[in-house]
Amino acid sequence: MAVQEEIMDTLILGIESSCDETAAAVIKNGRYIMSNVISSQIDLHKKYGGVVPEIASRKHVELIIPVINQALDEAGVSLSDIDAVGVTYGPGLVGALLVGLTAAKAIAFTADKPLVGVHHIEGHIAANYLQYPELEPPFICLVASGGHSHIVQVKSYGEFEILGQTRDDAAGEAFDKISRAIGLGYPGGPLIDKYALKGNSNAISFPRVHFNDGTLDFSFSGLKTSVLNYLNKMEQTGEEINIPDVAASFQKAVVDVLVENTIRAAKMKNINKIALAGGVAANSQLRSEIKSTAQKQGIDVMYPGLILCTDNAAMIGCAAYYEYIKGKRADLDLNAIPSLKLS
Ligand code: KG4
Ligand code: ZN
Repeated sequence: MAVQEEIMDTLILGIESSCDETAAAVIKNGRYIMSNVISSQIDLHKKYGGVVPEIASRKHVELIIPVINQALDEAGVSLSDIDAVGVTYGPGLVGALLVGLTAAKAIAFTADKPLVGVHHIEGHIAANYLQYPELEPPFICLVASGGHSHIVQVKSYGEFEILGQTRDDAAGEAFDKISRAIGLGYPGGPLIDKYALKGNSNAISFPRVHFNDGTLDFSFSGLKTSVLNYLNKMEQTGEEINIPDVAASFQKAVVDVLVENTIRAAKMKNINKIALAGGVAANSQLRSEIKSTAQKQGIDVMYPGLILCTDNAAMIGCAAYYEYIKGKRADLDLNAIPSLKLS
């Protein structure tokens, strides 16, 4: 009689609370999303024009348990079915991180499950594995979010080489600051994206910063200053500011640099696959321009669906799965590391 081997599924409960999204998800075998619950605090922080860390932490405390319960319910599983708990432990806001991390440790302890600590950027990169079940490393990944702008060579699961990064503001941070300056509000990225569609991206000439030292680093603070100077000058001379034109010209300046440096990285490493990750990867112009420019040079471009670009726990569950199958486990004294480095 043939012996039938039973292949067991591996279920990971992912937890994310590094900024202003309280999120939990259940991921099967690293690639299949069984549930993905995200409770965004955007409305709460809107009136302050940005995330207020103490308010974020307090809201995470209120939401974390209901969000985890909902993720388990929607996946149709209970804690006993879970193989491991994966949680973001950095980088991010320390108070916010601690809420998700403490919940994860409590679950790991009481349900006797292994705990896996996940780097938030590793999570963003992993969002691409959920979107493209066939995707395997190596590839080049542009990670651009509110806190990070990195060009990374993904060598294998959880193994990275940073090829370029911002020397000052992150790309998303620049979107948020300029949005505030032109009166569009928070979060800046989606609003600038929307207004830019109605504007002329050649209307105003804003700088694109490139370094001559051979790095693929970014700098967005000069661009930010240039936009602020333009706004001041217009105000002083009493000229009318065309908001869609400012949004479109600013966005194009950011997108040009992100696209150029990312494609240069792919060519430098002779890799013909580029993935996008992080909140700024939701930008419609970045998505279309990098795709069309790269395709002309024989490079494929991938990006996650919008909900997997901004913060979520499905990406954390996916990254945790690959660490889990490598045998990585965290102790219950795992601490939040606000400025955790990648690799
Ligand atoms: O990845 P994320 O949710 O949080 C961090 O890890 O920072 O990214 C949030 C950032 C914000 O700065 C937001 O303005 C930006 O991503 N963002 C966008 C767009 N959607 C979100 N930036 C440009 N265009 C968008 N459509
Ligand atoms: Zn993020």
